Amino acid sequence: MKDLKKFFVKTYGCQMNELDTELMVGQLVKRGLERVYDENAADLLIFNTCSIRDLAERKVMGKIGQLTRSSKKRNSIIGVTGCMAMAKKESLFRKLPHIDFVLGTNNITDLNSVLDEVMTTNKQTLRTDSQFEENLDYLVAKRDDKVKAYVSIIRGCDKFCTYCVVPYTRGQEVSRPPEDIVNECKKLASEGYKEVTLLGQNVNSYGKDQKEWNCLFHDLLYRLDKIEGLERVRFMTSHPIDITRELMEGIRDLDSLCEFVHFPIQAGSSRVLKKMHRIYTKEQYLEKVAMLKEIVPNVSLGTDIIVGFPTETEEEFQETYDALKDIRYSVAFLFAYSARKGTPAMRWKDDVPEEIKQERLQRLMELQDTIYAEQRQELLGAEMEVLVDKRGSRDGKLKGRTRCWKNVVFEHPDDAAIGTLQTVKIHSYNHQTMVGELIKSPELALI
Ligand code: 5AD
Ligand code: SF4
Repeated sequence: MKDLKKFFVKTYGCQMNELDTELMVGQLVKRGLERVYDENAADLLIFNTCSIRDLAERKVMGKIGQLTRSSKKRNSIIGVTGCMAMAKKESLFRKLPHIDFVLGTNNITDLNSVLDEVMTTNKQTLRTDSQFEENLDYLVAKRDDKVKAYVSIIRGCDKFCTYCVVPYTRGQEVSRPPEDIVNECKKLASEGYKEVTLLGQNVNSYGKDQKEWNCLFHDLLYRLDKIEGLERVRFMTSHPIDITRELMEGIRDLDSLCEFVHFPIQAGSSRVLKKMHRIYTKEQYLEKVAMLKEIVPNVSLGTDIIVGFPTETEEEFQETYDALKDIRYSVAFLFAYSARKGTPAMRWKDDVPEEIKQERLQRLMELQDTIYAEQRQELLGAEMEVLVDKRGSRDGKLKGRTRCWKNVVFEHPDDAAIGTLQTVKIHSYNHQTMVGELIKSPELALI
């Protein structure tokens, strides 16, 4: 059997994919392989893919097609993992004849055995189970970041929004035992990590599939708050319907839990929301936002929005526009609808013309840019707690994020600041990044 020495991996898509890459990297390093960042130096290439929108898929297909031809000449092994593996399965072997294996999101643990199979049989190998089995050794994950870590708490999604492939590419919800999560977070804290982001397609469903654990999402957060050295806990992402009062009170009361909630509205019209199967009306969503802002007055909100969903009228789009204007999110991811194979919405005519979708998207982006500009202006002069995570390679400045996820940079010569919480006074900004100066530091000399 040929000996594999160096691997290259490229990740597309969401944080869950980034974590899955870290888990695959861990398994490969354990096997004795070295990670390289130049694809031409690798004898194993892995593309961890995303299929949430058509554009994401086209980008991946283009890149793999281009790279595989040259890598194949050198006899490298090439694999496609992640959501496209699940969405396209064996048809990927027809579209990309040079690839050697297709490994689904629920089979990351099988990476090494699939590699062995490919190398002994020399045949294209497919492993795409529809359901996730809780048998992953999360502790194997190999992270590049030394300050912040992603931690998976629940996989899959049971919500079945009509536009979304996730319930098909990642299967049903499976929560991870609370003890495992607590142990992983304790280990991370002992290694010097200061922040964890708890990941799941819908973290608020945590524990509902395992009633006997008696540990719902907010219970888990209370347990993690006790971990010594873990300064910050975040979570990604939540479904508005499942955000409970207990969770809101947790955000108010727990020192570690950051005051930032990704709270995707998707659309501002109740009729469109119903067609999207979001299971809340505009009024119910706004009530939740009001309740959250009342319980946690300094909360920042993030959102995802889709424009041009089938049958969306100009008036209905205007409702989305008004919601974006009124709620004033601090982060907004804005998308044009793209029909995905296998989803219920695929059966409906994609009847909003592309140029109208793009025009609506543009209007939302312009609105959000004005909101961002106003928010930056409001931050001038503020003293913010920043978790410093690195020194920028280009500008040489220290970089970090506030509890509310704003990027901050400041000048300081001492790398000892990396991995610590510092107070920074904001004096200006550069695009989306706030620029400031260190005003107080228990461990660093002031300059
Ligand atoms: N078209 C456009 N955007 C989509 N999203 C999910 N599916 C689609 C689709 N078919 C967006 C949603 C989701 C985010 C991750 O991607 O806004 O919250
Ligand atoms: Fe997709 Fe809806 Fe599940 Fe989010 S909640 S992953 S949008 S099906």
